Amino acid sequence: MYIEVKNASKRYKVGGKDAVVLDNVSLDIEKGEFVCLLGPSGCGKSTLLNVLAGFEKLESGSVKIDGAEVVSPSPKRITIFQNYGLLPWRNVLKNVELGLEPRKLEKDRKRKIAQKYIDLVGLTGLEKQHPRRLSGGQQQRVSIARGLAVQPEIIFMDEPFGALDAITRMKLQDDILKISREEKKTIIFVTHDIEEAAFLADRIVVMMANPGRIKSIVKVPLGDHRDRTSEDFLYVRDKIFELFNLKADSYIEYYI
Ligand SMILES: Nc1ncnc2c1ncn2[C@@H]1O[C@H](COP(=O)(O)OP(=O)(O)O)[C@@H](O)[C@H]1O
Ligand SMILES: [Mg+2]
Repeated sequence: MYIEVKNASKRYKVGGKDAVVLDNVSLDIEKGEFVCLLGPSGCGKSTLLNVLAGFEKLESGSVKIDGAEVVSPSPKRITIFQNYGLLPWRNVLKNVELGLEPRKLEKDRKRKIAQKYIDLVGLTGLEKQHPRRLSGGQQQRVSIARGLAVQPEIIFMDEPFGALDAITRMKLQDDILKISREEKKTIIFVTHDIEEAAFLADRIVVMMANPGRIKSIVKVPLGDHRDRTSEDFLYVRDKIFELFNLKADSYIEYYI
């Protein structure tokens, strides 16, 4: 298995008391899968993602990627957050080139790669603009282009569209779906939005809080091209809504 999480557990001290943020979480992810971690705020989604990305350590259990224990972040994996993380003094092109700089490529080569991903995310013509002149959606596109430009094996995304208005969010969802299928990346995407998860994921890992755990794993029986108005999509979305209303922890691996 490409990504293997085994009995991952982690606690934080909150107000003198122990809070179990991850309680014996186990999860396997295949190469090329688009997996959404879905659940209410505080259920440990970001913690699990940060552990996978190598930013945080477990108390017990293990996380392996490609057979190797994850102990620190890797340049082969990138993380995209909600707040874009752009450098305000750099223009779009220079922001996208940022991740390529450690590679010491020739200037032209670097520019060509950056341009390819700027075009891919639909920002052609805005290369010389600075982030403050761009909308939130455009800024997040820069951040996505910068991530893709380093040609990572895995992309971690933590509520990347959370700060965007509904229409911009849908456009970015359309694009990230298309890009993920074309570029065949493994994507682990955190969201608390059921509809977003149903639209994007191959599998949805449904999490619950107190203690933070996996409630169920839903395989999304939709193809690569998805349509929010189709009967198939609405059926799947409604099934996931129903799953959230089930009180008891249900079956691991839930087939719609
Ligand atoms: N550094 C920290 N110190 C103490 N508690 C934390 C820390 N990070 C997260 N928590 C707590 O862990 C729980 C899960 O957090 P998080 O993984 O951010 O959840 P989610 O992303 O699902 O909203 C929350 O109750 C949060 O308050
Ligand atoms: Mg979070």
